[in-house]
Amino acid sequence: MRHKHSDYMHWSKTLSRARFNLATSGVAPFPLRDLPIDLKELEIHGDNSYGYVPLQHAIAAHHGVDPECVVESAGTSMANHLAMAAIIEPGDEVLIEHPAYAPMLDVAYYLGANVKRFRRPEENGWAIDPKEVRRCITPKTHLVVITNLHNPTSVLTPQPVLREIGDIARSVGALVLVDEVYLDAVYENTPGTSFHLGLEFVVTSSLTKVYGVSGLRCGWILAEPDLAWKMRRLNDLYSATPVHPGELLSVAAFKHLEELRERARWIVEADRKLLRDFLAEQSKLSAVSTAWGTTSFPRLLNGNADAFLKRLHSKFDTSAVPGRFFEMPDHFRIGMGVNTEMFAEGMNRLSRALILSGEHDI
Ligand SMILES: Cc1ncc(COP(=O)(O)O)c(C=O)c1O
Repeated sequence: MRHKHSDYMHWSKTLSRARFNLATSGVAPFPLRDLPIDLKELEIHGDNSYGYVPLQHAIAAHHGVDPECVVESAGTSMANHLAMAAIIEPGDEVLIEHPAYAPMLDVAYYLGANVKRFRRPEENGWAIDPKEVRRCITPKTHLVVITNLHNPTSVLTPQPVLREIGDIARSVGALVLVDEVYLDAVYENTPGTSFHLGLEFVVTSSLTKVYGVSGLRCGWILAEPDLAWKMRRLNDLYSATPVHPGELLSVAAFKHLEELRERARWIVEADRKLLRDFLAEQSKLSAVSTAWGTTSFPRLLNGNADAFLKRLHSKFDTSAVPGRFFEMPDHFRIGMGVNTEMFAEGMNRLSRALILSGEHDI
């Protein structure tokens, strides 16, 4: 039987919520009423057989790429699925970072890939070491898969390292898939997309995490025109055409992108400051701190994060993502950028739960 589900996605949809929800990964929703758009201009149908040209152009302009290289998709989720499905055949070797965003692994297994891993060691601040990629890649590798910023840790991979990964992939004829859904959360000197680094790069992203308009499901893939076309043809099997009102609203969002990003930025930054202060006081947690990103991935130094989080949820009405979903059961993921008051109280409750966990089994 092929792998046909995502345990993480199921948990996220059914069990992640709490009054103090630290299990998020994206910023607060941007309300429709604040998007300057005349709703009378919305239409149900439009000319979007293989993408809506104004949206394709907006995405292309955002990244400085040729519109031919842009494939519209339903969020980064479908972007990752389409990209991998267009590139790999059953049995193909795919080299995926560890820890990884679980649904990317799920898709690779679903497609029947021969999944191999390379480590991003915590002791190196979760950074990608190109030597490790070189050690793990083989002549059979078709695709290397990474996230930048990294989910769950938010660590940024600098362009020279990306370039080296590209060189390593090219040496065996492999492509590199970079999920950049969090990259625009680097609010200063935002790096350009790695798509510009070489022909072996395929990039996925969306407006979901950093811009607060997840409900529009505005995602995309950047790929060379031939591969991009293959992905559009493949998408014919999944969803025929995109939801046109969503495309129109996405075009409007692109016109006000900086405003959307700035609105969330202050929440993310206030939360990060609270998180830093919180972590500085904790003797039972260790965490790699990052300058950017909407998530952090602390380690519970003594104990099982799953049991701790269950009790945090039931006794303190506070949630975070168990590290087991990232194959790191001693860790958990905290999300920033939704509501600073909620985040502060979540930290407070996390703190109390940690104190109790030392005294007796909370
Ligand atoms: C690395 C990564 N890629 C993709 C997604 C899914 O993004 P979207 O909501 O755009 O489908 C997530 C969501 O958490 C993610 O963390």
